[in-house]
Amino acid sequence: MLGLTSATNAEWVAAVLADPARVLVDHAHCEKKAATMAISLINRYPERRELVEAMALLAQEEMEHFASVTQKIYERGYKLKHDAGDKYVQALHTLIRTNEPDRLIDTLLVSSIVEARSCERFQLLAQHIAEEDLRQFYSSLVESEAQHRTLFVRLARTYADRRTVDARLEELNVLEGNIIESLRGEPAMHG
Ligand SMILES: [Fe+2]
Ligand SMILES: [Fe+2]
Repeated sequence: MLGLTSATNAEWVAAVLADPARVLVDHAHCEKKAATMAISLINRYPERRELVEAMALLAQEEMEHFASVTQKIYERGYKLKHDAGDKYVQALHTLIRTNEPDRLIDTLLVSSIVEARSCERFQLLAQHIAEEDLRQFYSSLVESEAQHRTLFVRLARTYADRRTVDARLEELNVLEGNIIESLRGEPAMHG
């Protein structure tokens, strides 16, 4: 349903269960970067009304997620640290073509894939993490990230024809599968 070509394996689940603090800190930065990406799309394409309206709401929602994750961090006596970076998202961004409108379409589709992978991983965290409060928290994020995935695909279809968009999404999903396979085992949202 999420379109992903490679399922997250048990090795990742074991790595995140062993270091929930690191996962929360990394997750907080993911939410912040999702908001930053939404704002950067507004900066880059101010004339695209549907995009601007959707990104204005998305940036708010992602910052609400950021605020919730940081609360989980502080309640547990952990600290927010500097962003360690996200090799997965960096690798995906190298796939974005540089000429317009391909750049816009690829940026939207890569964003949809990041949302899909995050959604898949929140589902796993909601199933496996020991603490009930965190299980409920991750579970509450599953639906909103699935909706964000759909939103980005819908926006891409607004700015290019559906067949072209769907073919490119399929291509990018295969490439994403290769990237996620190559990064296995880090206790990070996209590790
Ligand atoms: Fe989010
Ligand atoms: Fe999201």
